[in-house]
Amino acid sequence: MRLDRWLAHHIGSTRKEVDRVLRAERVTVDGEVVRKGATHITPGTSVVALDGARLEHVERYVVMLHKPAGVVSATKDPHGDPLVVDLVPESVCPRALSPVGRLDKDATGLLLLTDDGDLVHAITHPKRGVTKLYEVRYDGALAADAQHAFETGVVLADGTRCKPARLDLVAPGLAHVTVHEGKYHQVKRMIAAVGAHVTGLHRTRVGPILLDPALPEGEARRLTDAELAALDAVTGRAASEG
Ligand code: URA
Repeated sequence: MRLDRWLAHHIGSTRKEVDRVLRAERVTVDGEVVRKGATHITPGTSVVALDGARLEHVERYVVMLHKPAGVVSATKDPHGDPLVVDLVPESVCPRALSPVGRLDKDATGLLLLTDDGDLVHAITHPKRGVTKLYEVRYDGALAADAQHAFETGVVLADGTRCKPARLDLVAPGLAHVTVHEGKYHQVKRMIAAVGAHVTGLHRTRVGPILLDPALPEGEARRLTDAELAALDAVTGRAASEG
């Protein structure tokens, strides 16, 4: 791979900026100063350093964010609202990220972000049926047959039938909802269809990834190798189950 391409990817810069950095003799490959962007390197084997600090070879970034309320799950917002991508510092990921699916602005909890478009597609594709788990606070009384309705497929107000899901009643006004699809405002609309109103929505799981209880709200970290392997196993991108 060309050094300038690799550098642009790893330090989150344009090729022009990379050229400037190279001309300033700030980059070494295997200990030698390199000025030419066309220099061939072997990702993962060549030791590339910027200003003396070794740059880690990262194929793709997958980040777990503990989303707070009031932040939009998007890369742009026409109203200028705060964005989830702005909560990921460069020290966690220097590249542009996209959210994997969405959490409503008022919802909290686990949101994955990545620079790997194939992964976004694999996790969010309806056929994959990736499991999502939500802690749901609600007002009002759920219909007596609400749990059965979830098991057989809730019919939303607009007539859409959801895939079978699970409703576990935890305490008065608190339930756990497990779904295998990602329709717009899905959990809120499912709860409305069985007679109650969601007042709080917190996601704790996406596929095999659990929200890290040690990750404070508003903070992000990269997935561990074990978490990445588990994700690849459910999205069919690895031969073995993780
Ligand atoms: N269901 C919703 O209603 N909102 C979310 O953010 C996620 C699932």
